[in-house]
Amino acid sequence: MNITVSEIRKRYLEFFKKRGHVIIPSASLVPENDPTTLFTGSGMQPLLPYLLGAPHPEGKRIADSQKSFRAEDIDEVGDNRHTTFFEMLGNWSFGDYFKEEQLTWVFEFLTDKAEGAGLNPANLYVTVFAGDKETGIPRDEASVEIWKKLFGEKGIEADYLELGSTEEGSEKGMRGGRIFSYDVKKNWWSRSGIPANMPLGEPGGPDSEIFYDFDPSGKTHKKEFGKECHPNCDCGRFLEIGNSVFMEYKKKENGSFEKLAQRNVDFGGGLERITAAANHNPDIFSIDVFEPILKYLPSNLPIRNKRIIADHTRAMVFLIADGVRPSNKGAGYVLRRLMRRAMIYEYMTSDPDLNLISVIAEIVRKYRDAYPDLQEETIIPVYDDENKKFLAAFKNGLKEFDKLIEKGGISGKDIFNLFSTYGLPYESAFEFAKERAGIEINKDEFQKEMERHRELSRTASAGAFKGGLADHSEKTTRLHTAHHLLLKALQIVLGTHVKQRGSNITSERLRMDFSHDAKMTEEQKKEVERIVNEKIRENLPVLRNEMSREEAERLYAEHEFGQKYPDRVSVYSIGPKGATLENPQFERAFSIEFCGGPHVTHTGEIGDFRILKEEASAAGVRRIKAIIE
Ligand code: SER
Repeated sequence: MNITVSEIRKRYLEFFKKRGHVIIPSASLVPENDPTTLFTGSGMQPLLPYLLGAPHPEGKRIADSQKSFRAEDIDEVGDNRHTTFFEMLGNWSFGDYFKEEQLTWVFEFLTDKAEGAGLNPANLYVTVFAGDKETGIPRDEASVEIWKKLFGEKGIEADYLELGSTEEGSEKGMRGGRIFSYDVKKNWWSRSGIPANMPLGEPGGPDSEIFYDFDPSGKTHKKEFGKECHPNCDCGRFLEIGNSVFMEYKKKENGSFEKLAQRNVDFGGGLERITAAANHNPDIFSIDVFEPILKYLPSNLPIRNKRIIADHTRAMVFLIADGVRPSNKGAGYVLRRLMRRAMIYEYMTSDPDLNLISVIAEIVRKYRDAYPDLQEETIIPVYDDENKKFLAAFKNGLKEFDKLIEKGGISGKDIFNLFSTYGLPYESAFEFAKERAGIEINKDEFQKEMERHRELSRTASAGAFKGGLADHSEKTTRLHTAHHLLLKALQIVLGTHVKQRGSNITSERLRMDFSHDAKMTEEQKKEVERIVNEKIRENLPVLRNEMSREEAERLYAEHEFGQKYPDRVSVYSIGPKGATLENPQFERAFSIEFCGGPHVTHTGEIGDFRILKEEASAAGVRRIKAIIE
């Protein structure tokens, strides 16, 4: 008998309750008072204030199972491991216990047969933080020692091996190791990723991940995933099932870190993944919550399509229950995309009896014990309404599609036209062409048409202001450099979600549009001004470098959302002090942007910077006007 999601959730919460934790209910998928993100994507988001030191009303030890949604994974769904919605099991120490208790308990929970997930410890592999020169944060030696001891107690000799990056991992391989260290890209956790991307004041820390080995024989590994297999390899042998973050640092202004007032633990375990591991089946969709859905879908449907319908329908159920409604912006847009994709896949089955309403009902039934507030009566009308609206337009697009097929074929360019005129989703159109008419669409042609279209609309806007600059006068150039400082200062103050969405600079003033959901407070504006003026006073060098687009992307150089760039790009970096063309020290730069210039050579030439106005520009986009004096 396979263990159920419900049973694992129950055991986990019980386990931590016995160890002094108070169980709290899941927060909504729609974050409250958090303009930095559309959805709750991890257990820590709703608990941020307590990691920063506010006292939690339930005390210092908390456990929960948090509903989470990651829109960035929509396109990955279809394989055996990705879902958009998932539950994250979490236990929290707000300045209470630390590494020793955390790793011991999590290991005990995962391996205990009666009260935990009952995993065989021989199938578990762990990773720790390798240390980071940039920030000076050292390797997590303590966790290495704790893991050695824990595996030792199970009779497993656990060797430690330094791997560094994923690339090094696939070069070196595992060589009999059990504990591996990786760099900031893999074993550092913050809401905004690696230390360099964290805004001022953001908490983060080294983490220790646990992987389940579905295939000790190693046969799953294929060379296309890298020379050798290792825990972070994507071949499918290993699945990350849990992550203990030792959140004890906070970003300071010059890119360095200081200790938070308290040492925290943030553990996140993938409920569905742990359940799959407990059943030793690498297919997430084999767990009980998906089983009735997959069974209900026609058996001749390709497995990928079944998984997409199952995932998207489950996600829409939870999103709608938390108040999201399909719309053309923000969270509503993501929901709409998800719903329409599921509807198209349903439509494609050509089974008149298939109805996602029944799938919705199955899901609600499966989750009723843990989420009694899931109501079919709320969810189904929302689904019904969207389905009617969408299918009408979609069918018109399909008629055009069929006409083209009858006329003798359909090209990548035609698909682009159907997409831009009827909103026929192009990904589905490719699949339709293949499944209904046996035609393989030339995707390059489609892509070219898409790019031509983008190019046309860009040329139209660039004609008005070359590179956003009205002229190359001295004042305009000074404002242009101030513009770069401003973008970075906004990211530091408001968060890394801030991206440039448009710019326009004359010799009088600069104007920048950027993504952000809320009106800036007076304090935020003051702080942005202060940072920009501070960087001006530091008289930082401004450098222009040419490099490949990939290299610029690796440096996380800023670029405007939606812009296409050539293979070689020009990049401007500002700071640090002492940076030269021979030694540009990009890692320590204050700002790096894809940019054609021109700029001043030192920030001291800019003058005093002042924000004139901050206002709404479009949905989720704000506009700043600023001058130099
Ligand atoms: N915050 C960490 C994560 O999302 C652990 O909960 O992986």
